[in-house]
Amino acid sequence: MRKLHDAYFKQAKREGHLARSIYKLEEIDKKYSIIPTGGTVIDIGACPGSWLEYILQKVGENGVVCAVDLKPIAKRFKNTPVHFKMMDLRDLNHETFEDVAPAFDAVVSDAAPNTSGIRAVDQCRSLELCEAVAEHAELVLKPGGSFVCKVFESPDFQQFRSKMQKKFGSIRTLKPRACRDESMETYLVCKGFAQEPEERKVREDVKARKKKGRRTRQY
Ligand SMILES: C[S@@+](CC[C@H](N)C(=O)[O-])C[C@H]1O[C@@H](n2cnc3c(N)ncnc32)[C@H](O)[C@@H]1O
Repeated sequence: MRKLHDAYFKQAKREGHLARSIYKLEEIDKKYSIIPTGGTVIDIGACPGSWLEYILQKVGENGVVCAVDLKPIAKRFKNTPVHFKMMDLRDLNHETFEDVAPAFDAVVSDAAPNTSGIRAVDQCRSLELCEAVAEHAELVLKPGGSFVCKVFESPDFQQFRSKMQKKFGSIRTLKPRACRDESMETYLVCKGFAQEPEERKVREDVKARKKKGRRTRQY
C-alpha cells in the first residue's frame, strides 16, 4: 500500500497539484456527487489547498467557494475567488460567511488534529473537530445539501454517525484509495440535509440582523 501512496504522491506532483489529498475528494465526489457546478461550498481545514483546486474547477466560474484553516494558504487561485478565513474551525458561527452566501450546497472538511501518537487521544481530538464542523454545516447548509468530513475511526464515531443519520437522507463511510492503508482516517459522506424548522428560523433571524460589515480576504 505504501507503493500506492507513493503513486498518488507522484501523480499529484506530475499533474501540478498541491497535495495528493485532491484524489480523495475527487473519488468521493465522483462516487457521491457532492460538489455541484455553480454551487456554494465551504472547505474546512483547507490548507495547503488541493481540495480547493478540485472544488474550484468543479463549481466553475459561477460557483462560490469559502475556506477555513488555522494556517494561511500560500497558493493564489485564478478566476473564482476563495473567501478565506484564517481561524479555528471551532469558532465558526452563522456570521462567518454570511456576507458571502446565505446558505451552502456543501460543507467539506479534511481537518485533522496534530497527532499525539496515542490512539485514543487522537480519535477523541478528531471527533471533537468533526462535531464542530457538523454543527456549522447544520447552520449553513441548504435543505438537501451535502456534508463530508474526515474522521479517525473509533467506537465513539458510531454515535456521531447515528446522530448524523437523523439529519441527512443518506450516510456513507468511505476510505478513498489515496488514503494510507495504515491510517485511521475515513470519510463520512452525508447527503440530503433535512433542515429543522427551528434551525431555519435561527438563520432567518441572523440574516435579518444588520450586517456588521465583516470582510473576508480573497485569494
Ligand atoms: C490534511 S490537512 C488538509 C489538506 C487539504 N484538504 C488539502 O487538500 O490541501 C488538515 C488541515 O486541517 C487544519 N486544521 C486542523 N485543526 C484545525 C482547526 N481547529 N481549525 C482550522 N483548521 C484546522 C490544519 O491546519 C491542516 O491544514
